[in-house]
Amino acid sequence: MVEFTLNGESVRIEGEPPTRTLLDWLREARGLTGTKEGCNEGDCGACTVMVTDRTGARALNACILFLPQLDGKAVRTVEGLTSPDGALHPVQQAMIEHHGAQCGFCTPGFVMSMAVAHANGARDHDTQLAGNLCRCTGYAPIARAADAAALMPVPTHIAAECARFRAPDLASRGAAATGTEGGHPAAGAPAATGGAADAAAPACPGSADALADWYLANPGGTLIAGATDVGLWVTKQFRDLGPVAFLNGCEDLRGITVSDDTIRIGAMATLSDLLPVMEAHHPSFAALIRRYGSVQVRNAATIGGNIANGSPIGDSPPALIALGATLHLRRGGVRRALPLEEFFLDYGKQDRAPGEFVEAVTIPRQPDRLRCYKISKRFDQDISALCGCFRITVDDGIVTDARIAFGGMAGIPKRAAAVEAALTGRPWTDAKVEAALPAFAKDFQPLSDMRASAAYRLESARNLLRRCLAEDRGTAVSALEVTP
Ligand SMILES: Cc1cc2nc3c(=O)[nH]c(=O)nc-3n(C[C@H](O)[C@H](O)[C@H](O)COP(=O)(O)OP(=O)(O)OC[C@H]3O[C@@H](n4cnc5c(N)ncnc54)[C@H](O)[C@@H]3O)c2cc1C
Ligand code: FES
Ligand code: FES
Repeated sequence: MVEFTLNGESVRIEGEPPTRTLLDWLREARGLTGTKEGCNEGDCGACTVMVTDRTGARALNACILFLPQLDGKAVRTVEGLTSPDGALHPVQQAMIEHHGAQCGFCTPGFVMSMAVAHANGARDHDTQLAGNLCRCTGYAPIARAADAAALMPVPTHIAAECARFRAPDLASRGAAATGTEGGHPAAGAPAATGGAADAAAPACPGSADALADWYLANPGGTLIAGATDVGLWVTKQFRDLGPVAFLNGCEDLRGITVSDDTIRIGAMATLSDLLPVMEAHHPSFAALIRRYGSVQVRNAATIGGNIANGSPIGDSPPALIALGATLHLRRGGVRRALPLEEFFLDYGKQDRAPGEFVEAVTIPRQPDRLRCYKISKRFDQDISALCGCFRITVDDGIVTDARIAFGGMAGIPKRAAAVEAALTGRPWTDAKVEAALPAFAKDFQPLSDMRASAAYRLESARNLLRRCLAEDRGTAVSALEVTP
């Protein structure tokens, strides 16, 4: 059973297939067709909804969000933005006044992203709206509307929803306790819906211990964390996932703890959770995270999923490897730890036994020497052609330690061992960097694909090492300061 509030009204869902998306359910079961289907793969933002839980209000893509991921939360769609007395939300009013509503298909998604930003007091509209695509290029009036709305207070019903989750006694299953919001229409919807009687009930473990038990008993099952990968297996590949377990109830996998020695990142920490921590400790990693998908994707995607999927173009593994991260795996009651780079064995193959899952990743505390570079065709919402991360330690002008890792250059995220060896023990100078460049061809034989040619990838990797030195010396603008 899944319980949440929808536009202020309690709903209880039983019997729906576990991989029924929120988007399909809203449109087909509830008649809430304001939430649109554009791409059905997390790219366009037409399906954006507001989801509130104890972490606050977040924009999420309903097309790759499964119903069990909403348990205990509050969902708000474009139909639920107006106040119970019918007054338009400030962003709706501003969109009218600034002529921001254009084709109408993308507009509800924009409005929802703007409403979440408005609730959170976020004014960086370019970032907040990067996950909402407008094909008619009408961003200027939308940005003007967002600016105008920011001067208006958050409507009471939205503020109350956020406040309710901040109250500790209601935080656990807060949303479901509230009943119907005063007079708010449920937009032509039937009462709480049931679903297909034969739908397999998903596992929703409430802790890492419970997850460990389930996975040991179902080693062939599929774990679902943020579903930004798994969602597409369903919406695009129509895969049957077999038994599934949703990890969103495992609060103990979500924390990020900074101690004297390490930064421990729980597998269920989202990229958005990680962003402020990296802003404080490794700003270049934070800049990389801001280039990861969009706000909606970062709000769902977890570090555990980004590692466990074994993708050669995942953005966090190269940064974590350069920082010397350790991966913590668990199978039943047995835990083991290994350097993150050793987890990636070959394309599509990781050092993970059936029934074993990622519990956390830890980074040793260290002075910040990290420089991360993502090369992609678009600044926002694009997959890396390559991603290079460098941690070069220099003492008295000599490289005493070099950790360099790349995504997009091999079938796995991989260290540049030959380049590291060519740099270590030598002066950190143009001459020695130039002398180390041929080693890239020993470390990497990249592929040509739709994102980049092999030659482009190798040349870009070499240039990133040159850039790293130039930034260290202060003769290149830091990648941190480059904006689109
Ligand atoms: C529009 C869009 C843009 C994207 N942009 C980027 C980008 O810029 N950079 C990037 O790196 N990625 C990007 N991605 C890919 C995706 O967001 C990431 O790979 C994400 O981190 C996956 O995390 P998740 O929590 O959503 O994983 P899920 O989809 O839930 O799971 C992914 C895989 O990991 C497994 N898994 C999840 N958690 C665990 C665990 N704790 N233990 C063991 N196995 C586990 C699942 O079973 C599955 O095999 C994008 C995706 C979309 C849809
Ligand atoms: S329909 Fe495009 S992001 Fe969901
Ligand atoms: S608002 Fe839909 S294409 Fe621009």
